[in-house]
Amino acid sequence: MRQALTIPKIKAMKAAGKPIAMLTAYDYPSAMLAEEAGVDMILIGDSLGNVVLGYETTLPVTLDDMIYHTRAVVRGAPGTMIVTDMPFATYRLGPEETLRNAARIMREGGAHAVKMEGGADLAEEIRRLTSAGIPVIGHLGLTPQSVHQIGGYKVQGKDRWEAERLLEDAKALEQAGVFAIVLELVTEPLAAAVTKSVRVPTIGIGAGQSCDGQVLVYHDLIRYGSGIRDKRFVKTYANVGETIRTAISEYVNDVKTRSFPEDKHGFPLDDELTKASASSSRLYGGETK
Ligand code: KIV
Repeated sequence: MRQALTIPKIKAMKAAGKPIAMLTAYDYPSAMLAEEAGVDMILIGDSLGNVVLGYETTLPVTLDDMIYHTRAVVRGAPGTMIVTDMPFATYRLGPEETLRNAARIMREGGAHAVKMEGGADLAEEIRRLTSAGIPVIGHLGLTPQSVHQIGGYKVQGKDRWEAERLLEDAKALEQAGVFAIVLELVTEPLAAAVTKSVRVPTIGIGAGQSCDGQVLVYHDLIRYGSGIRDKRFVKTYANVGETIRTAISEYVNDVKTRSFPEDKHGFPLDDELTKASASSSRLYGGETK
């Protein structure tokens, strides 16, 4: 069986110039397919709120939701490094509460690491987790849990002040002990600058070509019910949503026109059973005493 990558191996990929392929997954079959396809890390993103649970934002996603989905993913991809997002506000009530919540994700969910959105302001929490043996990935740029504060899903780091702050945050995250940093929707030059300035790998989504790895949302990659917003940074590799819709409408039509089930889908009685039943059972039209 394939072995999950370790943190030192993930870090070494940056040094060796080997790109890291990360993908989100939220359930058993998606995780199984991701592992079979060779992804390096699976992220149970709180994007599950949008693409699986149908919320407008990631804010309603709970710790129990994350743990429930993490367990399914771990069963589907036992040979892959599994990272789980800490959901909204579960790491903002101090280092001890953060440790309690992250420990539940590891112990009950079976994740190998957690991811948190934020910069230098999370240094204490990151130190607390890493000193307790919980590996952490940072997340900078567009941080969807702060969508109301940011004012929408916009590219970050466009002006100099914002860019300098993000660079400082990346250094602070590294200093605090993260083993990788997700950069979401930041300008290409800023992503390049961050990637050069830290020794831990950067994993981009909408952050251009210079990151050490890339991450995409599963449902975007295969267009599985996720075509609501057109996202320029997504490459769609298959249109599974269309395939599923066509299959289901054919099924509905077959049922309505009585084309399904056909004879071959049913279970005829075998001859011996028919004879035995005919003589003894009212069910099959035989006489009863
Ligand atoms: O929740 C998520 O899926 C994420 C990725 C977009 C990085 O955080």
